[in-house]
Amino acid sequence: EDDDVLEFRPPVVTVMGHVDHGKTRLLDAIRNTNVIEGEAGGITQHIGAYQIHTTVEGEDRKITFIDTPGHEAFTAMRARGAKVTDIAVLVVAADDGVMPQTVEALNHAQAADVPIVVAVNKIDKEGASPDKIRGQLTEYGLVPEEYGGDTMFIDVSARQGLNIDELLEAICLTADGALELKANPNKEARGVAIEANLDKGRGAVSTVLVQSGTLHVGDAIVAGVAHGRVRAMFDENGQAVESAGPSRPVQVLGLSTVPRAGDTFLSTEEERTARQIAEKREAADRNAQLAKRRKRVTLESFD
Ligand code: GTP
Ligand code: NA
Ligand code: MG
Repeated sequence: EDDDVLEFRPPVVTVMGHVDHGKTRLLDAIRNTNVIEGEAGGITQHIGAYQIHTTVEGEDRKITFIDTPGHEAFTAMRARGAKVTDIAVLVVAADDGVMPQTVEALNHAQAADVPIVVAVNKIDKEGASPDKIRGQLTEYGLVPEEYGGDTMFIDVSARQGLNIDELLEAICLTADGALELKANPNKEARGVAIEANLDKGRGAVSTVLVQSGTLHVGDAIVAGVAHGRVRAMFDENGQAVESAGPSRPVQVLGLSTVPRAGDTFLSTEEERTARQIAEKREAADRNAQLAKRRKRVTLESFD
């Protein structure tokens, strides 16, 4: 049946690396040059994730970046069982070299079986030694292609906007080589909450990443213990959108409360079903907490 067709979806990328090596600056540089143009009047805003487009071998390609602070969000999401990231960009400052959180980040990515692209950053700086970074990371199993390995290393300067397109190309080529990214857009949406906050005027504002299916304004959804109907959706330009397909991050209004980062969401035919799932999850959470408390009381009574 036509509705079951799997279609290519863009890779979803998380940027990781040691403190101050330039993750935020790099995400800004990527976003400033390549965010998909909104219509005039759109207000660029932070929604925790954004999608860009780039050209690889003459073909228009999209990439979704998760723009939440470092690997904290990544591990929180993984702890909840959510697999969000297809590719990790490991940022290493060329004047500083491999540091403890560099190693931590690459360990996380390797444990999750997520391919890594290395962005050797700050190459504009005096004392930058991109070759040293290549040598250091080789010892952790990240062997550069030019040394006969299969990891792409791109020298960049987030500050000067240098080689950003090359980095985007490396991400696409890594996706093509290592991953088979497909999803069915023709069904009810499923995905993950990336971040959420309570807004005085607008209520619960949640950024979700659609992983399969398509989310529409008006759909009933449940995200963690939050539920409701999608009242409105916005993209990273603050532009209202009617629908969002696989790998698309979108800000959603209309949930009863704020989900946690890493909570999975799904849309349901009936709003009642969404509410019932949410209530079941809430009851399960409550029971788990009670059980924990009871166990603690039992243990204490043996002291
Ligand atoms: P945390 O989120 O705190 O871990 O840091 P980060 O990895 O996001 O680093 P951030 O982007 O905040 O950059 C840290 C500092 O390095 C800032 O002062 C940046 O301006 C600077 N910086 C980032 N990229 C470059 C670069 O390519 N060249 C130079 N010269 N400085 C850079
Ligand atoms: Na910083
Ligand atoms: Mg930062």
